[in-house]
Amino acid sequence: MLKTSSAYIINFEAIMDPRGDLTSIEYGSTLPFIVKRAYYIYNVPAGATRGSHAHKNLRQLIIAMSGSFTVNLDVGDAQNSFFLNNPRKGLFVNTMVWREIVDFSQGAVCLVLASENYDPDDYIRSHELFLNQRKSINSI
Ligand code: TYD
Repeated sequence: MLKTSSAYIINFEAIMDPRGDLTSIEYGSTLPFIVKRAYYIYNVPAGATRGSHAHKNLRQLIIAMSGSFTVNLDVGDAQNSFFLNNPRKGLFVNTMVWREIVDFSQGAVCLVLASENYDPDDYIRSHELFLNQRKSINSI
């Protein structure tokens, strides 16, 4: 089981209305970082895996805006899986957490709110390298 400092679910408020529901996500009250970038993953073919990397400095909030998928997280000495299927829940993922996103349902839309601009140098794409770097963190 991952420590909550690595990843946790944030429940958002929904403003229910006969015209439809509304959810807002705001820095401070629900979001632990200022959003510099948002991107979304969609049209994912059955069986595809997204992610498969960790970030050195980037923190993220991952939301299933539509449909469902599973986020597998790994910090070297602990692993957790989160099934996301509700736009009122977000998965916060801290720095130095390996993630894979799998089992996208047909039509699923994965929204990612990110604390940093896109920077290819912030990625760790080798799982072996990631585990080596995590070892020193886990031993503290
Ligand atoms: P990648 O991070 O590999 O996607 P995944 O979320 O599955 O790990 O990104 C796929 C491609 O998109 C890669 O060429 C980098 C590019 N990209 C951007 O240009 N900007 C972005 O904000 C992101 C997340 C990716």
